[in-house]
Amino acid sequence: MVKPDGVQRNLVGEVIRRLEAKGFTLVGLKLMNVPRELAEHHYDVHKERPFFAGLVEFITSAPVVATVWEGDGVVAAARKIIGATNPLTAELGTIRGDYGISIGRNLIHGSDATETAQREISLWFKEEELVNWQPTITPWLYE
Ligand code: RTP
Ligand code: MG
Repeated sequence: MVKPDGVQRNLVGEVIRRLEAKGFTLVGLKLMNVPRELAEHHYDVHKERPFFAGLVEFITSAPVVATVWEGDGVVAAARKIIGATNPLTAELGTIRGDYGISIGRNLIHGSDATETAQREISLWFKEEELVNWQPTITPWLYE
């Protein structure tokens, strides 16, 4: 998900470009304002943390772009492409490392495990909003 700061900073295309260029397949995409209840559900593992209220406030403050990606190892690879949570310590070459400065404005969210991804996809997307398609370049990406 491109967070509100990523949308405001015109980095939607850059985020999508990096994941596409890696070879992953886009199967879901939408621009939306986030209802408070959805933001609270999405981040409910952090509900006891001191930053929770600010995080929900931030995620609901401007539109986000929610995406779903498919491909071998996509969860771990996307986390690498995204970079460490704190953009100042994230490696250069990662999205957060290249474009961010502070932890509360780290541009993008990525699911941290396949089970989390399943949960988050069903929170953010209806079944019929996901598109099952076969990219013709698959044989050029996978042996
Ligand atoms: P995300 O869930 O957004 O992909 O980020 P993450 O896995 O790298 O980090 P996580 O520990 O899940 O934290 C979720 C988001 O909460 C904000 N945060 N603020 N002020 C703070 O100390 C603090 N710690 C975390 C960040 O925006 C982080 O992405
Ligand atoms: Mg997380």
